[in-house]
Amino acid sequence: MSIDYALPFGQFPRVRPRRLRRTAFLRDLVQEHKLSTSDLILPLFVQEGTSTKTPILSMHNTFRYTIDELVKHCQHIVDAQIPAIALFPYIDPAMKTNLAEEAYNSNGLVPRAVASVKQAYPELGVITDVALDPYTIHGQDGIMNDQHEILNDITIEALAKQALSHAQAGADIVAPSDMMDGRIGFVRERLEKNGFTHVAILAYSAKYASTFYGPFRDAVGSAGQLAGADKKTYQLNPANGTEALLEATLDCQEGADILMVKPGMPYLDILWRVTQNSSIPVFVYQVSGEYAMLQNAISQNLLPESAILETMIAFKRAGANAILTYSALDVARLMS
Ligand code: PBG
Repeated sequence: MSIDYALPFGQFPRVRPRRLRRTAFLRDLVQEHKLSTSDLILPLFVQEGTSTKTPILSMHNTFRYTIDELVKHCQHIVDAQIPAIALFPYIDPAMKTNLAEEAYNSNGLVPRAVASVKQAYPELGVITDVALDPYTIHGQDGIMNDQHEILNDITIEALAKQALSHAQAGADIVAPSDMMDGRIGFVRERLEKNGFTHVAILAYSAKYASTFYGPFRDAVGSAGQLAGADKKTYQLNPANGTEALLEATLDCQEGADILMVKPGMPYLDILWRVTQNSSIPVFVYQVSGEYAMLQNAISQNLLPESAILETMIAFKRAGANAILTYSALDVARLMS
């Protein structure tokens, strides 16, 4: 910065930054960042069956919806002017296998959910999760050998099939969240070859091996399968920052349209570094553990509900173009 208060004469009392904080109109005029409902994406959980919404105990006011209930719920999202949802499936344990074949069943839960939502609300953006963890018997995001190693190149073949099945069902954006090497290029090529040149890829580029995913793993039913195992051989080490830039660069070169940083609040520095270095949009995911932390504090009156808005503006300040948050409907209500 060259025009600044460090000049010899630019000192108190001539310089008083508080002048611009004196009244609301001044604060509004000089505000640098603004949050809008059009910045929000609501992640939603879907399950088999009809007329059921099952509460997720670890996540306040969050449910797994059967497809009919999901479609009904979408009306609230459209009314709140939230532009998109991200779908995550709860798969019946009996359908889980080591090869995760259910992940690319074109008549599976996710493709049916996508088609139903798009039919009822063609304008609502639908993002799907491309990853095998809801479908594997061990809850890992990849296919495993007998030595319990995650096999990269077989996994990305399954991911390409999965992404294609979502595109065929009408998904607007497919979002690989698995952190296998080369998966973005593989998915991009598969989509191109099959005529889905318009389907965007949201790449979870900087996805960390985080403890903050616990409630989500309950929600999709992979916690039991994982049985305490971690994902450190593919997700990023929380102690690393520069490596996130490598992943972001590779995903961009392989054909990603949008990058993602995840989790959000504990990784704002990563979000900032990626947004400052990226020429494509960057989204951030405020994950289940962050949601649980905020909701627990709010329910015990330790924090006001507006604390959620503060976390949202922090993401905007750090450069996020959009925010995936389980609080999206609450945020829209708090803003209105
Ligand atoms: C897995 C996936 C995870 C989340 C989204 N996709 C969890 C994991 O990597 O174990 C976490 C989201 C959240 O915690 O809200 N493909």
